Parts: sequence; structure tokens; C-alpha cells
Amino acid sequence: MLFGVDTKPNDDWWIGRNEPDIHNLNKLEALMFQGNGYFGIRSTLEEHYMEEKRDMFVLGTFDKYENEATELPNLPDIVNLEIVINGKVMKLNHGSVTQYQRGFNIKNGEMTRSFIWKYDGKAYRFKFWRFVSMARRHLFVSKVEVAPLDDSARIQIRSGIDGQQTNSGTQHLVDGTKRLFNARFIQMQTRTQQSKVKFALTEFHRLCLNGTDLNMNPRLKLNRRQIYADYSVDVDKEQTLTIVKYANIFSSIDKDLKDNVSKDSLAELEQTSQLSYDKLLAETTQAWDEKVWQKSLIKISSHNNKPQIAINFARYQLLANTPQDWRMNIGAKGMTGEGYKGHTFWDTEMFMLPYYILTLPQYAHDLLKYRYLGLVGAKKKAHENGYRGAQYPWEAALPEDAESAPIWGNADIVTGKPMKILSGFIEQHITSDVAFGVMQYLQATGDKTFAHEMGYEIVLQCAKFWASRLEWNSQKNYYEITDVIGPDEYKEHVSNDAYTNYMAHWTMKCGADIIADLRQNDPKDYKRLNEKIGLEELYKALIQRASMLYVPSPNEQLVIPQDDNYLSYKKIDVTKYKNSEKDKEDVSEIFKDFDLKELDKIQVTKQPDVLLLLLLFEDKFSKQIIKDNWDYYEPKTTHDSSLSYSPHAILANDLGLYSKAFEYYEKACQVDLGTNQESSVKGTHIGSLAGIWNVVIEGFGGVRITDKGLRIQPHIPKSWQSLEFSIIWKNTKINIFVSHKYFSVMSKKKIKFICHDHIYQVEPDEKLLIEF
Ligand code: BGC
Repeated sequence: MLFGVDTKPNDDWWIGRNEPDIHNLNKLEALMFQGNGYFGIRSTLEEHYMEEKRDMFVLGTFDKYENEATELPNLPDIVNLEIVINGKVMKLNHGSVTQYQRGFNIKNGEMTRSFIWKYDGKAYRFKFWRFVSMARRHLFVSKVEVAPLDDSARIQIRSGIDGQQTNSGTQHLVDGTKRLFNARFIQMQTRTQQSKVKFALTEFHRLCLNGTDLNMNPRLKLNRRQIYADYSVDVDKEQTLTIVKYANIFSSIDKDLKDNVSKDSLAELEQTSQLSYDKLLAETTQAWDEKVWQKSLIKISSHNNKPQIAINFARYQLLANTPQDWRMNIGAKGMTGEGYKGHTFWDTEMFMLPYYILTLPQYAHDLLKYRYLGLVGAKKKAHENGYRGAQYPWEAALPEDAESAPIWGNADIVTGKPMKILSGFIEQHITSDVAFGVMQYLQATGDKTFAHEMGYEIVLQCAKFWASRLEWNSQKNYYEITDVIGPDEYKEHVSNDAYTNYMAHWTMKCGADIIADLRQNDPKDYKRLNEKIGLEELYKALIQRASMLYVPSPNEQLVIPQDDNYLSYKKIDVTKYKNSEKDKEDVSEIFKDFDLKELDKIQVTKQPDVLLLLLLFEDKFSKQIIKDNWDYYEPKTTHDSSLSYSPHAILANDLGLYSKAFEYYEKACQVDLGTNQESSVKGTHIGSLAGIWNVVIEGFGGVRITDKGLRIQPHIPKSWQSLEFSIIWKNTKINIFVSHKYFSVMSKKKIKFICHDHIYQVEPDEKLLIEF
């Protein structure tokens, strides 16, 4: 597996880079992203460089500029710290640099950097450390050491809060109050222009010389949207100057706000700045351990530790971006960059949710609760489009918003005109995906409270939407769904997209089953939901429409048509475009040769559509059908979305195409960790990172949440010796060990699982061993 970052053979928790590659800073900024689910910072360096993308976001603080899509505002930078030595600004491209090492600890998110900087024949040692606290959600701490090695030096420090950041030019913040408190604490207050979310950011610096606190007060430097603390210290040869910076951010939408942002921010920093860097880091390490690493195990024994690093990295990025508040959800790029504006897609339910359901169910619950709150926006969207029930937005920001997708995208290469992004209008499968996520959660957790308080209502509203959305085709005598975009976004305005139709059918069927079950077993809840949704009428509509909805069946060659016309289009050789990398401007190779109108008429697929359907509903189709569709569609798929690799890897493993499965697994791992320097510039790919977990646990580990219960049917790659992991099923932790000869299952309580259509029962604390 080729990584674009350095790793150490005996350390499963370290990624880094041993050269000061200042022309490729952006990728590491995203990979070494530091966050705690409340806020997150790209790992730009302390000193400034031309290409840097300084980004800091607080989840949920969306703002909307006129004529632009709502987005998470890029907040003031608190990482900056400029060091001037004898009048010369320290930068890696001034003078010379040796012994450079930049490292990132995946276990607690601490970033470190050290090097010797030589300028004018004199050498200085630099060391940097910093982290975003997982234990105190508002806190960021950094530490810098500077030691002149050859001669004494005057060292000037400028560090502060820089609110001149923009979202690619859009300034979301007003210039607010900047001031000093108690001679030591600098603070900036600001707010977003339109949504009027208030922020306060406070910073405190402690400067020590050879360990002795200099008790220095700063000189203030104020600019528009900037406040800096300046210090100047004369340091002798081989003395060490240490600067510890404590910074925090509070917003007016914080759940834990006690007074107001300014007072809370100052009070917190007065308290935390009393504590040492090491103490606060230890708290963070412990919080990471408790929140994620101790909760579930994944141990891969392989010929090298790259698979282990990849899964650790994926889980780090997931938790660093997991909201600690159900009013928020995870963006397609989390908070790791401006890409996709902080918006939530189907990526959450279809790619990320399995990880949460099976290892951190409380977070899965909260992510779905966000969708429950989102019923307000989804009902609004359905209503605006003339439908009933709830139509979830393709891109979601605040739960009460209807659709947040931008309307215009890149220019068309043929016409030169900006292309309209139609997903927000017609990519409608998201409404089934949300319902699917709810049902998977309920299957695996058995959380009845959620089902009755929120889950059923979400599914029923989604079903109600589909019942109103179907169109009657009087010639064919069936209901159909025209004018949509399926998961293959190369095709717009298609009729009867296989994935969309099957998922709509499943949603309506599921809605009808819920109504029947409630009517029989829970008359009280039935009555309550009947008053809210009209269950009597809905039930009839669901039964009638689901039975009359056209779902494309396999043709004579056993191929399920991706839509009404796909199979009639011309075929091209897509080898050139398969896995090709997007360029700096984020344009895919295929769009340099064809525009969307042309792609519309070619049998080429962006990411799995029929194949995803077959993966989700494997019980409905024979192995032969799955294999024949794989043979048909896999060669036509460009994987132009990073979400494409993990389902292909899992399906290939299911089909016994083990080397293909491993190839796709490696590709998923390399989306962010690989050598392509452009791939993570706008942020990492959280859905694809979750996909790494999906391949390891659902693919190689063979774990699936099915209608019939838990399925465990593992097969690990040839180059792995074993895979050991734990999952949580109905509140019970299950430990699974897989080797090439056997697999074993153990749990504290009695559990049942299915393997190759056989039901096994595991007795408490007894290891059940199944030989292959
Ligand atoms: C993919 C979508 C995905 C979105 C955000 C697009 O390129 O085609 O399926 O939801 O990116 O990750």
C-alpha cells in the first residue's frame, strides 16, 4: 500500500513527514486535522506560507451570504505564531533547515514538529507541539521551544487571533470587539453576518526562559479583525525560550453556554491557563481512550502495519469530526476543509452510520436524531415541491433548513456556461437512505425508545413522500419515478434509476410494515402517529403503490438496467478514467473529454448504483445475478467519487474475488493517505474513511446487519495473518477473531448470528470456534 506520508514500522499511531515540503502543505493540513467534534482546525503551520489554507470551524454555526449556499464560516485563526530572530522572520524557506521532522499522533491528535534552522551562519533549535482538547471542548493548546545554539539572540514573538480568514473570499464575520483582560488575556468577539451567531475567542501566552516563568505582559497589536500579543526576549546561547499558548472559542449556539460568549471564554481560559501543557494533553489522551479506543478493538496482523495505521487514522478522523450535539451532523469533509461547505449528504447514513451503529451506538442515535429534527426542513422541501411527507435535502446544513445544495457548479467544457447542480432538485434517493439508516440502527440496537419517539416517524414520513412522488404510467400500467439522479451522478433526468426505485419500494414497504405492527402491538402509539401522519390512508396508499411500482428486473443476461435507457447507450473504454485523479481545480479526467450531456448518453458510471443495490439487498438476488451485474458494471465504473471503492471491495469479497477486494480496499485507504497531493486539499473524505472501516469489518470481517439478524461471514486478505475486532450488537459487546483457518466469536451474553444460512448460538463467555 503506497502512502504519501511517512510511517514507522513499530508505531501504529504515527504518521509524519521528514522533509519541510512547503509546496505541498495542504494535504498534511487536512490529514493532521485536529478536532473534537465541537470545533476543528486544519494543521497549518505556525508561520505563514503562500499556499496555506487556514481553516477553523465550529460545527453548526452556518451562515449564508447573498446568492451563495449556506456554509460553515471560516473562523479566526488561533494557530499563528510568528517568531522573529534578530530581525529575521523564521520560515522554512529562509536560511537552511536540517533534522526536520513533523509527526502526528493518531491516538490523541497531537502534532509535533522539530528542526534546526540556520540563518546567517547561526543555528537555532525549534520544537513545536499542539493539540485540540478532547476533554475540554473549547480548548486549543500549543507549545513552542526556541533555543539559539551558537550565539545569544533577540527573539520576538507575535501570536494572536486573526479574523481575516475567508471562505475562499467570502468574509462571514463582522469586525467586532478586540480587547485585553487582566493585562494578559487577549480576546476577540465577532459574529456571523447573516445568521448572527456570536463568537468569543480568548488567548493567553506563558513565556518561560529555561523553565522559569517570565510573567510577561504582551504589547498589543490591533488591526481590522486581528488582535495580536507581541513579546520580545533576549535569549542567551543554549538557553531555551518556551511559549505556551492557550486559546479557546465559544459560540452563542453552544449547549454549555453559562453566561455570554465573552464571559464564558475568559472564565474558562483563566482556569485552564493555570494548567500545564502536559497535564492538559494527558487529559486529552485519556478522553480519546475512553471515547473511542477502549470502546472497540481492531487489530490487524499483517506483513506491515499500514492496514493498522489506515484503520486507526480513519477512526481518528471520524471521532474528531463527530458532533457532540444532535443539532449537528457530519459533513462530507467533516471540518477538515472548506469542501462541501460543511454539508451533510447520504454519506452519513449509507457510509458512516454502520461504524457508529456497531461500535458507538450513542453517536448513531444522535446522528439520526438530527434527521428527526430535520423533519421540519424535509417536510418544507416536500411541500415546496408539491409532495407530501418528508423529502430530505440532498445537502443538509441546519436541520430546519430545507435544501442547502449550491445551485451552480463548474463551467461546462463545451458550452463554457456554468453548469447547474441538479442534485439538490432531483437526487432524491437520500430520502430512502435516511430511512434505511434508521432501520439499520433499530435492527442492531433494538432501541425501542428511539423507534417510538423518532425512528418510526422518520420512516413513515419518508414513505409518505414516496407514495406522493410516484408517477402513474398509464401505458405501462405501473408507477414509476422519472427525472431523477441516482448515485451515478453522470446521468441526469433519468427514469427508473434502479437504486432509487428499489430503495423507494423498500421504504414504502417498510412504512407499511411499521403501520401494521403498530396497529397490532401498540395501539397508543398507532393513535398518536395516526393523528400526526394519517396512518389509515397512508397504509392503503403504501400497499397499493409499492405493489404497483416498477422495479427493474434482471434482463436475459441477468443484468439489471441502471435506468430505462442506460443499456441502449454506446460503450467506451473507460480505462483511462478509472481511478484517474482529479486535478488541482477538482476537475475529473473524464470531464476534460466529455461534458455532462455527452456522458448522459454513454454507458459509464461514476460510482456504484446497481452494485450498491445488490450489496444492500443481497438476499433478494441470486449469487449469479450479483456476479453478472458485477461483470457488467464494474468495468464501466470510473470511481470518480471516493465513496465508490468500499462497496466494490465488500462486494468483491462476497463474490470471492479476493484480489479485487484487496485492490479496492487499498484504494479506499489511499484516498487520503495515498500519494496524490491534491486529493485532500479541500478536506479529507469522511465517507470514504468510514468506508475503510466498512471494508475491514463488513467486508473482511463479514459482519452485516440483516433483516434476519446479525450475520458474520468473514474472509480476510491473503497478506493478513489475522483480524481481531469487537462490535456492539443489542447492547452486547462481541469479540471476533478471524484467521485463515477459523474464526471465533465470544460475548458476555448469549447471542445468535448467521453464517452461510446457518444459525449459531454463542453462550455467555464461551468461545465459539468455526473452522473454514
Ligand atoms: C458523490 C456523492 C457524495 C458527495 C459528497 C459526490 O461526488 O457523487 O455520492 O454524496 O460527493 O461526498
